[in-house]
Amino acid sequence: MNKSLRKAVIAGNWKMNKTPAEAKELIEAIKPLVKDADCGVLCCVPYVDLQTALDAAAGSNIEIGAENCHWEESGAFTGEISAKMLTSMGVKYVIIGHSERRTYFGDTDVTVQKRMRAALNAGMTVILCVGEYLEQREQGVTAEVVSSQTKIALQGVDASELDRVIIAYEPVWAIGTGRTATADQAGEVCGLIRSVVEGLYGKEKADAMTIQYGGSMNAKNAAELLAQPDVDGGLIGGASLKPADFAEIVKAAVNG
Ligand code: PGA
Repeated sequence: MNKSLRKAVIAGNWKMNKTPAEAKELIEAIKPLVKDADCGVLCCVPYVDLQTALDAAAGSNIEIGAENCHWEESGAFTGEISAKMLTSMGVKYVIIGHSERRTYFGDTDVTVQKRMRAALNAGMTVILCVGEYLEQREQGVTAEVVSSQTKIALQGVDASELDRVIIAYEPVWAIGTGRTATADQAGEVCGLIRSVVEGLYGKEKADAMTIQYGGSMNAKNAAELLAQPDVDGGLIGGASLKPADFAEIVKAAVNG
């Protein structure tokens, strides 16, 4: 696989962490450490931190994203945020289908597909998360689970929109557990996702797609994971809240 065909992207997922004041501090701390990055750098932050993060990152190479969005533009959906609201404030990236949304907040393959469609319609770039539970890995159905999550989410996505889709392989058992997939496991499933994309859209589109690994990626294990031919970046939770660690991971990203 030729990595020069696609862009490496290291994305932080802050989850439910940081007040606006803390967000400003964190972006300011990360900024100088990643300014010479050879890859895309993105911080996905809680809704209430978005404006502060956008302001703090202005003029730097750090992009700011949200962690979810609703599938309708507006309406009676108390507590939800639409893609249009995000783009209206200048947010261009959004995570969709994170396993924590799927596990704790009722997201299903169908709602993930709807959110994805709405985000793409609004002109956003989506980080689509897929990944199996431990029981599924142990049962040997990882390939089926990840393939079907990927296929359902991409249903109705046109080939011309794929340059605004990043897929993150996040085995649920590796998220926030300190238990990382081995480089081979990560590489294997990222390769499988690429073959699913190839089956749907052809080789050229598949080769051009950024596919990340996520799940306890840290400053120590990033280089090995990112050296895998099919791993083009990372979606980083815990380590994205530590500027030095996040910057180490950004440095480890292999571009071309
Ligand atoms: P983690 O989270 O790096 O803390 O395991 C990754 C994620 O949930 O995106």
